[in-house]
Amino acid sequence: MPADRLVAVVREPRRATGLGVAVRLGDYDRPDTLRTAFAGVSRLLFVSSPELDPARRTEQHRAVVAAAVAAGVQGLVYTSFLDIPPLSGAHLATEDAIAASGIPFTVLRNPFYSEAFLPGPVPSAASAPGASTPGDSTPGASAPASLVYATAGRPLNTAARSDLAEAAALALLGTQTGRTWTLTGPHWTHPDLAAELGIDAREGEVPGPMGMLHGLARAGLLTTQTPDLAELLGRPPLTMAEVSRSR
Ligand SMILES: NC(=O)c1ccc[n+]([C@@H]2O[C@H](COP(=O)([O-])OP(=O)(O)OC[C@H]3O[C@@H](n4cnc5c(N)ncnc54)[C@H](OP(=O)(O)O)[C@@H]3O)[C@@H](O)[C@H]2O)c1
Repeated sequence: MPADRLVAVVREPRRATGLGVAVRLGDYDRPDTLRTAFAGVSRLLFVSSPELDPARRTEQHRAVVAAAVAAGVQGLVYTSFLDIPPLSGAHLATEDAIAASGIPFTVLRNPFYSEAFLPGPVPSAASAPGASTPGDSTPGASAPASLVYATAGRPLNTAARSDLAEAAALALLGTQTGRTWTLTGPHWTHPDLAAELGIDAREGEVPGPMGMLHGLARAGLLTTQTPDLAELLGRPPLTMAEVSRSR
């Protein structure tokens, strides 16, 4: 796809220079900007909003769908999320709005990103004392000595961001519509990852949002496996070991 046929829609165009594609203003909180942003667009890759409040997120997403209809968009790919209540509430409402819109669509139910589970460095004693949490990153810090997990060692079906991005691009360019793809990566466990990284693994408390993700894994909610991501990519998705090596 030549770059001159792509348009990036962002809420602050002045921060999106040098992308090599046209840039337009489009803010999920300002529906008026979205219709203009989508003018002349034939296929739309609709990336879900990072808004955490489900009601507000659903409102933003419905505004995107309405603007796509008004602008005459002819194909829409939506980056949804695995059906894990209550995390998937706004996504399912969005999927319903898309299905009702009449626009030929593809739904990609993404898993969690693998990269988020890679252990970040532990802050050096001189910078900031305290233990690292998975996914944290502290520039200039040393590697963590051990991987702490609260998953009970159960498997996770995360996928590499690059694979999910490639899958989204392929879905956008493809001709198949009306399908909901459930995208999952190959199973991995924290002990496996620790062995790959050459560090110890131990069970313990994982604080913050990452602790919630570990709880989902411990409850067995991140074990679904489908062939969909491999089918879309035309190759096996990256393993967690491959993701960790490419970091
Ligand atoms: N599967 C997963 O593990 C996972 C993890 C995290 C997120 N997600 C979902 O996937 C989406 C993309 O993830 P990501 O990691 O690429 O997120 P990200 O790096 O945080 O980027 C979010 C983007 O959304 C833009 N944005 C925020 N509010 C907006 C608004 N009102 N209107 C238009 N754009 C707005 C931000 O623009 P600014 O640069 O202007 O802030 C930013 O470019 C997230 O939004 C979330 O729904 C999935």
